Amino acid sequence: MYFVANWKMFGDLKGLNSLNNVINFVTRNERKNFKVVYCPPSTLIFSLSKKFKNTPIDLGGQNSHESENYGPYTGHINSKMLKDIGAKYLILGHSENRQCGENDKLINLKIKNGLKTGLKIIFCIGETLKEKKNNKTNQILSNQIKIGLNGIKNKSNIIIAYEPVWAIGTGLIPELSDLNNLIFFIKKKFKNKSQKVLYGGSVNENNINQLKTINNIDGFLVGAASQDAKKFIDIIKKTYN
Ligand code: 13P
Repeated sequence: MYFVANWKMFGDLKGLNSLNNVINFVTRNERKNFKVVYCPPSTLIFSLSKKFKNTPIDLGGQNSHESENYGPYTGHINSKMLKDIGAKYLILGHSENRQCGENDKLINLKIKNGLKTGLKIIFCIGETLKEKKNNKTNQILSNQIKIGLNGIKNKSNIIIAYEPVWAIGTGLIPELSDLNNLIFFIKKKFKNKSQKVLYGGSVNENNINQLKTINNIDGFLVGAASQDAKKFIDIIKKTYN
């Protein structure tokens, strides 16, 4: 079960002390198939990579430039740099980046380079409210998967994160029956029966008891609630109770 913290553009050095509680909790409760990953903003990756050294917690990036090599791209970092600093995971295709203009083809390039670098990719897909209302969800997810993973034969290092855009940061979550159907729909697209699929979008310590009942769910991608160590620990605890 994956618990991935996506801190987005939040967090500062001062706030990192609260992670000691998470480190203690995860270390004491280490289990097989239990993976906690933090994806902080770039400014905190170095500090977190030191903090998580020799702990069971892994580190990930929130995005990368599509170029495999270093280059004159002001403000960007690539997967090679993330790997260099100790990241093992990389979130790609997040709707907040899609809204800034990233399309499926670009995301496909980023995924390919991330995989080549040796990172595990957390590939986000999800429909907008308008698409949902127009009954386009299945088609949108199919297209995002088809183009995003085009040409990638070995998908063992791909983790899908289903994040409906309308559920992100809104406090809304899908009907559980819809979510069950969609996770099944996504998994069916993969030959590998153990394809990992996470859910993300307003996951918190209050709705986790419902969300953990989704059939065959492999974990959660958590935004706001992951910035609060206590809430994040609660989410992990409740999933296992
Ligand atoms: P929230 O948990 O804040 O809704 O964010 C979800 C998300 O976008 C994680 O990638």
